[in-house]
Amino acid sequence: MAQDLRLLAIETSCDETAAALVTDSFVVESSVVASQAAAHAAYGGVVPELAARMHLERIAGVVRAAMAPLAQDWSRLDGIAVTRGPGLVGCLAVGASYAQALAAGSGMPLVGVNHMTGHVLAAEIENPALEPPFVGLVVSGGHTDLIHYRSHADVELLGATRDDAVGEAFDKVARMLGLPYPGGPEIDRLAEGGDPHRFRLPRPVMPNFGFSFSGLKTAVLYLVRDLGELDERTRADVAAAFRLAAVETLCLQLEAAVEHTGCHRVVLAGGVASNRLLRETARTRLDGMADVTIPEPRFCTDNAAMIGAAGVVRQLTHGFDHEPLEIDPGLRAYA
Ligand code: KG4
Ligand code: ZN
Repeated sequence: MAQDLRLLAIETSCDETAAALVTDSFVVESSVVASQAAAHAAYGGVVPELAARMHLERIAGVVRAAMAPLAQDWSRLDGIAVTRGPGLVGCLAVGASYAQALAAGSGMPLVGVNHMTGHVLAAEIENPALEPPFVGLVVSGGHTDLIHYRSHADVELLGATRDDAVGEAFDKVARMLGLPYPGGPEIDRLAEGGDPHRFRLPRPVMPNFGFSFSGLKTAVLYLVRDLGELDERTRADVAAAFRLAAVETLCLQLEAAVEHTGCHRVVLAGGVASNRLLRETARTRLDGMADVTIPEPRFCTDNAAMIGAAGVVRQLTHGFDHEPLEIDPGLRAYA
């Protein structure tokens, strides 16, 4: 089937250098992600200066690898999508400069993409028939948002975290348990072998679809302190108890949002949506209430295919951007 539009997408907002080819039927022809996690692990989190430098070192190679299916033939592209915010300013600048240089050299148009909308619209790759309205639970290292995605031009924030994002809580609890950064996948793995019911942790539910994960994090801190030296088994049990508390909290609010909106479609998005228990629990709890779309794990954590998918939607609804691209580190999510 001939497609009408094929975008090269570039993502550099945080610590993954990524590029992808995506068509307007949401087919991902390539998706290359160079993670810097190992370089930042020594510092226990992302170091912005280092991240920007590493993007600069890697971006040309990553884009070349993503272009491999087209044998580097730029004439087979129709445009370039690039993340313009929110994110780290130096990191965004590397991706945006590279995209603008490519556009200037090739005469191709650009489309600037909101990273958080990218996370949400990764769902189109999983389910190209998906149309708004839907309820979205967006869970990453910086965001814990419940949204009512009414249309591509109208997204209501129903609720968000008042303190730590859930991904941040996973990362901090991982640190307490002596696990490396990023901690989410480590906790997920360790929890698989643990007993989630040996320790009982709070499920902090706030009014108005809000979340608060700092209390849960502190509860784990006290638990670990009281337990003293942790054997392997106990570490797994703590990880399992924390994972269960975090997942149940997210699902309680998600269910409430589905009831409140009367929406029968749900999207899970962001790095934490790759969590095995969250994927399972959301599907089970919403069974019969809503159709649940969750991107495959590699499209939940930061990647460029999601930027391509959101770029396609943005191009179809708004056209390409004709002004010089403006990056905005504080860009409001979904704007
Ligand atoms: O969406 P993402 O890749 O980057 C941001 O835009 O923030 O999300 C990263 C976050 C990190 O906090 C990481 O620990 C968490 O997602 N994460 C997970 C899992 N995989 C990544 N958290 C829980 N379980 C996982 N399997
Ligand atoms: Zn992200």
